[in-house]
Amino acid sequence: MTKHLRLSFAILAVSALVFPFCKKTEITDPAPDNLAVIQKYLNLDFNNLPNYANPAFPVHYDANVRAQDNAPSLNPVTNAGAALGRVLFYDKNLSRNNTISCASCHVQEKAFSDESTFSRGFEGGLTGAHSMRLANANFYTAERMFWNKRAQDLEDQVTQPVKDPVEMGFDATHGGFGALIAKMQGLEYYPALFEEVFGSREITEEKAKRALAQFVRSMVSTGSRFDAGFAAVYNPALPGAGNGAPFPNFTQQENRGKQLFILGPPQGVACAACHNLPTFALNQTSLSNGLNAGETVVFKSPSLKNVAVAGPFMHDGRFATLEEVVEHYNSGVQPGPALDPRLRIPPGQPNAGQPLRLNLSADDKAALVAFLRTLTDEAMLTDPKFGDPFR
Ligand code: HEC
Ligand code: HEC
Repeated sequence: MTKHLRLSFAILAVSALVFPFCKKTEITDPAPDNLAVIQKYLNLDFNNLPNYANPAFPVHYDANVRAQDNAPSLNPVTNAGAALGRVLFYDKNLSRNNTISCASCHVQEKAFSDESTFSRGFEGGLTGAHSMRLANANFYTAERMFWNKRAQDLEDQVTQPVKDPVEMGFDATHGGFGALIAKMQGLEYYPALFEEVFGSREITEEKAKRALAQFVRSMVSTGSRFDAGFAAVYNPALPGAGNGAPFPNFTQQENRGKQLFILGPPQGVACAACHNLPTFALNQTSLSNGLNAGETVVFKSPSLKNVAVAGPFMHDGRFATLEEVVEHYNSGVQPGPALDPRLRIPPGQPNAGQPLRLNLSADDKAALVAFLRTLTDEAMLTDPKFGDPFR
């Protein structure tokens, strides 16, 4: 501020010398006070931002786990960048008729998903797939986003809803992302925010992508009962860093479910071969889980963190309950070219290659569901740093 004032005085003085006969002297506007403009609209203090960049990790989120983070070196999470991403995420102006934001379909209390099987876009149209939970998206090492993995990575994904004709409506026939940029330039807080984050008031899709991706990557879930239990038994010298030991904070049933989830046959059913511990992001080698006979598409799953908070489940929301999900793996896996080998009868056995049948007892099925419920991270569902920043 003072620098700009001094500069203006210097310009004044110089112009007074050079143009002594000019009646009026143009005084350059003082730089608008970005932080005050931002605070007028948003509960965001840029001198004291929430910690997105360096959250405290529990002991079992060790170096090996953190190495799985898919953040590119050119776009690490920063407090300012993620804060801008959060504003974009909650801003209904990102839809053509100002009715919905990303958060309309990714509701924080619903694990950043949507309880409806399909979500309603800005003009009431329905999405073609069920909304996805967003926690631990940064730990999907294949980086690809959407159920069918059609986006290269998070940066590629995050502005696609804006340009989608059903979701937010800035599609090519309505000016594309450029039309949204023109709109954002007229919203006082955006030039101020972009200057604070990127050093220039210019708004570009590239910058919006970076900020939104940072916000999504900052949604790391470490606060579930599973995490507390793992931290209590963590031992890097043991296989699985000790995750096979009974967790002291688990019931017997939950520990049984954990054993079934982690161990391969005959003691368990090896869900963890695809849903990686401790992030529960999908293993990048996973193929299809056999929902449809003859399936050729390889789908991904979002992290199972918070999976019990909101159904329905799978890309088309076909299962209403976790019991139905477990029954699918127990008896419902369908044959098809994309079916993963881990869900087929192993080579050398009768009917090798056909879908596996787990023949779980009712108790074991209930134990698996009980275990999935320990992945709920209440703290994340209510943490204000992931909440609506608008006043
Ligand atoms: C109208 C509802 C709707 C809106 C608005 C919406 N999303 Fe989504 N989101 C979905 C649905 C549905 C999917 C799954 C779509 C698919 O796979 O075809 C999804 C998938 C995603 C994924 C992929 C997650 C993964 O693990 O692969 C991310 C990330 C995401 N959305 C972020 C955003 C952001 C950021 C915005 C705002 C710019 C946004 N979404 C706006 C409904 C919505
Ligand atoms: C071969 C890898 C693989 C194995 C093994 C596996 N899954 Fe999955 N899982 C997937 C894939 C892929 C999806 C997403 C499928 C889709 O929606 O098209 C998925 C989806 C899910 C979902 C729904 C997620 C959501 O957001 O709707 C749950 C819950 C789940 N799996 C639990 C389990 C359990 C429990 C086991 C063990 C009995 C298991 N999985 C074994 C690959 C696997």
